[in-house]
Amino acid sequence: MKILITAGPTRERIDPVRFISNRSSGRMGYAIAAAAQRAGHTVTLVSGPVALPPVSGVEMVNVESAAEMAQAVHKHAPQADMIIMAAAVADYRPAKLHDEKMKKSPGNIFLELERTEDILASLGQNKRPGQILVGFAAETSNLEASALGKMQRKNLDWIAANLVSDGFDTETNRLILLSAAGERIELPTDRKDVIAAELLKNVTRA
Ligand code: CTP
Repeated sequence: MKILITAGPTRERIDPVRFISNRSSGRMGYAIAAAAQRAGHTVTLVSGPVALPPVSGVEMVNVESAAEMAQAVHKHAPQADMIIMAAAVADYRPAKLHDEKMKKSPGNIFLELERTEDILASLGQNKRPGQILVGFAAETSNLEASALGKMQRKNLDWIAANLVSDGFDTETNRLILLSAAGERIELPTDRKDVIAAELLKNVTRA
């Protein structure tokens, strides 16, 4: 299969030296890309800024912002049989980009944020027949109900749900896989490469 995978955080610039981002390490997405490559698939990995070496045998596309990630994903999506969105894409970016480094002054300041594109939701709207869409849901509460809602709203085939405390910026993870067909598969705490191989085995099962 041709598999498109995203990983890592995005960075949304405020000025030439500052940005808004999140704690995603990229490890889960990179582990899925490596597992998919080992299983013989043709893999493209669109990665936000992370401190990980590139995955060998995989086409790497490095991006910084949610807008750049959206552009790269939309470019590669039409050829993909499966898309796995493991990236922690920023939901908001600063409404204004300052060309110069912002100077401080007494008192508070307010940073206006605007919504970014929900890449996964647009992929769900434009899903071609046979294409399989896998999303992630990192939650701090109501894990399964929130994940199910996301899967339905975004027209996904699978969603991998995890508690932030179990798998965000950590070496291990613990996932619940839910499918649009009603399957529910628990992947108990393990190293991310083990979880990645299990996830892939389930979502690529015909
Ligand atoms: N995602 C995306 N584009 C965004 C935000 C998220 O493609 N702008 C994808 C992520 O890669 C992940 C899934 O959507 O696969 C996460 O779903 P989402 O509802 O966006 O999660 P949260 O951002 O945590 O949303 P909420 O605040 O609604 O819980």
